[in-house]
Amino acid sequence: MSGSKSIARTAATGGALDPEFLEWSTSLPIDRRLLEEDCRGSVAHVQGLRAGGLVTDAEAETLIAALESLPGKVASGAVVLRADEEDVHMAIESWLREAVGDVAGKLHTGRSRNDQVATDLKLWCRDAVLRVESQIDAVLTAAQSWAQRHDSVVLPAYTHRQVAIPTMAPLWLEGALTLPLQRDRALLAGVREELAESPLGGGAVGGTTLPVDTAVSAKALGFERPPVNPLDAIGQRDHALLLVFVCARIGLHLGRFSADIIELASDGLVKLGGAIAGGSSMMPHKRNPDLFELVRGQSALRQGELVQLMVTFQGLGAGYHRDLQQDKEVIFAAVDGVINCLRMIEISLSNFELLPEPCLQSLIRGDAVATDLCEGLVAGGMAFRDAYGKVGALVAAQRDAGKRLAELTAADLEAAGLDPALLERLDPTVAAKRRAARFAR
Ligand code: ARG
Repeated sequence: MSGSKSIARTAATGGALDPEFLEWSTSLPIDRRLLEEDCRGSVAHVQGLRAGGLVTDAEAETLIAALESLPGKVASGAVVLRADEEDVHMAIESWLREAVGDVAGKLHTGRSRNDQVATDLKLWCRDAVLRVESQIDAVLTAAQSWAQRHDSVVLPAYTHRQVAIPTMAPLWLEGALTLPLQRDRALLAGVREELAESPLGGGAVGGTTLPVDTAVSAKALGFERPPVNPLDAIGQRDHALLLVFVCARIGLHLGRFSADIIELASDGLVKLGGAIAGGSSMMPHKRNPDLFELVRGQSALRQGELVQLMVTFQGLGAGYHRDLQQDKEVIFAAVDGVINCLRMIEISLSNFELLPEPCLQSLIRGDAVATDLCEGLVAGGMAFRDAYGKVGALVAAQRDAGKRLAELTAADLEAAGLDPALLERLDPTVAAKRRAARFAR
């Protein structure tokens, strides 16, 4: 369409847009994803217009029927929105004019694209919260069955990338994945709270003098209330910022969990299923942790999106600025990205297994029971620093002899002046279970 024919331009706007500028500046390729939300928002607005006596029942019915039919028609290919519009909002209004004629000119009564786009985005974010929650739930369910399958598997907990202490597989999974994701999920309730208010009625920035019933449109869209302040209603994106922050934090948690698996796999303690492993184009023996490396890499993108969104708003005054148009691409990418990563982690949980025997060997080789032996001495009455020094000396002596703590016999303990009953302290499985019991709920 030539700019002069666009319904969002008047003589005062100054003529037609340069076609190249229009093509560069249009948000339609991105915001056509808001088609369904935009139609829903417009239907609610028409209900507000009717309640305020600004359209007749018949006019409202014509507009509503057309708007409700559009998403299906676009999905089936029966309607193709014009590509030469500034955004999805103008493309829809321009289609409406062709579909129902002059009455389409009443749709934008008492409304601006500023409250319209804010409304669409809130509706999209509300659905996004539900989708992220349900994908977190799917991961938590998969994690629960992984934990059940590995109920009695003992593995090393690491500090400084070195074998530290024996632990149980379910306790590790809970700390590395389940509890962080549960906290992320809880944070989404805060996003939902920030989505409670309808922007419709905010208009361009100062509301409207017309009697549009914004309580009606708010209720029709499932918002708790109409806007309390038009400037805030149209110009704030705090809900989206918080949502993208939650996506970034989930990304961080999934990336950290992935780093754990990559480390365990590189130490030979985890077997990756062929369904999720990568191969090498040259080295025939490789089974690489590609899924986990990609999820870890995606975490970087989530942090980047959070920064992109923050700096988009940085330095802007209150209200609407065209800069805000760029928010949607970032928000969509963050939500799509995090849902895909959660799904990949869900799939991975039925495709990697801890290897009990290599885990046990690693615990023995790493003298992971040193702290347990030390605590055994303390339980027998020795001061901690004395016990700590004694066990440190035992570890050093064993290593000098090319041996490990776990290879000490009852006689060795006695020879070192220790109670031979402490032998059970040298069993990594006993140690892991005793430690895990302290955190049983
Ligand atoms: N395409 C714009 C966006 O996504 C729509 C809002 C336009 N409002 C305006 N005052 N130009 O932000």
